[in-house]
Amino acid sequence: MPAIVVVGVQWGDEGKGKVVDYLASKSDFVVRYQGGNNAGHTIVFDNKTFAMHLVPSGVFLPGVQNVIGNGVVVDPKALRSEVELLESKGIRVRGRLHVSLSAHVILPYHIILDGLREESGHGIGTTRRGIGPCYEDKVARVGVRVADYLEPETFKVLVDQNLRLRACDLEKVKPLAQVREEVFAEYASLRKFLKPFCGDTPSLLETALRARKRVLLESAQGAMLDVDFGTYPFVTSSNPIAGGACAGAGIGPMAVSGVVGVTKAYTTRVGLGPFPTEIEGRTAAYLRQVGKEYGATTGRPRRIGWLDLVQLRAALRVNGVSALAMMKLDTLANVHPIKVATAYKVGGKRVAEFPISRAGQLDAEPVYETFPGFSGDLTGVRTFAGLPKAAQDYVLAMEELLKTPIPIVSVGQDREQTISRGKGIIWP
Ligand code: IMP
Repeated sequence: MPAIVVVGVQWGDEGKGKVVDYLASKSDFVVRYQGGNNAGHTIVFDNKTFAMHLVPSGVFLPGVQNVIGNGVVVDPKALRSEVELLESKGIRVRGRLHVSLSAHVILPYHIILDGLREESGHGIGTTRRGIGPCYEDKVARVGVRVADYLEPETFKVLVDQNLRLRACDLEKVKPLAQVREEVFAEYASLRKFLKPFCGDTPSLLETALRARKRVLLESAQGAMLDVDFGTYPFVTSSNPIAGGACAGAGIGPMAVSGVVGVTKAYTTRVGLGPFPTEIEGRTAAYLRQVGKEYGATTGRPRRIGWLDLVQLRAALRVNGVSALAMMKLDTLANVHPIKVATAYKVGGKRVAEFPISRAGQLDAEPVYETFPGFSGDLTGVRTFAGLPKAAQDYVLAMEELLKTPIPIVSVGQDREQTISRGKGIIWP
């Protein structure tokens, strides 16, 4: 059976966790392939809400195996907290979670360095989870992989080497000896916790794919935060786009048979950086309040904007999206009229493509098309025909303008609040 990639096609927080949880009911494996505990995937079912950061969103379905791929950066302490929380709520994790031996490990000094950079005057509004500095070490070839973390002698040598390399910065915050102490304070117990979860995940996935199991590959963040295709430098340090799934999970591209893009019915962004359709004022405040638009990881209020087809087209292209899930259609109810950006003006000229230059992205002024709004409470609707006509028309218009089917429409956080249109559908 094939693998399907689920990607965010905006600036993250689109609702990927819900889509993965929804599709996971027909899957055997869910694999996280990049990012770390900067992510916040909210899953709601049976009146329970879980905000997940590292553990893949398949963990709530008992028959699903979950993999943290080599492309992820793993903070062992954060992982332990999350596993303990899940187990305290009766969710079995042991035996169902597999962590790649090749994934890189976030250590306390990465978190210090992330904070330092943010406060240096060159910050981009990161989650301060140490993500960027950990990926820096990875590409600088000085990183600590899970396999290294499990070998105390290797670990010690690498930590001492890295503390020396980063001493100049770290000593601005605290003495090196103190940082070292923090790294080793819980090392023995964290190592003991982590060990049983670790393994050769590409082999595991190869066996699964050969046995025709269904594999879902779950991105964190979104295409516009991709280090290559996002609004650089206001991006994360990995490749959330679908192409990143193979490198971050250790499977070949021929295994992937579909890419599900996840978008909200409007747009949000957290952190700094260009956001052409951003709005402020009453409509923004209304959508933030109704949509509970606060970061699941940091609690920061999310910036709000209209749906942006220029941005979405660029994202659909670089991800090769075969179907879209449109989230939070219910939140957009009672907003009249609805605006959607169909082009930009940059330097006074009309453009159809998302600008690549920093100046162009900051300059981009949206050209809007207006759509009739819809009223009422959509959260109890379970069929497409049951939606107000203007809401149906909005989805159909986006499908047409984006030339991409939208087989999933979400009208609430709960697993049940999902409308399946059964079209262009996900699993063959
Ligand atoms: P970092 O990934 O913590 O280095 O943050 C880099 C940028 O990505 C910042 O603008 C963050 O706000 C943003 N970011 C990281 N993770 C998420 C996420 O899960 N949702 C939305 N934005 C995110």
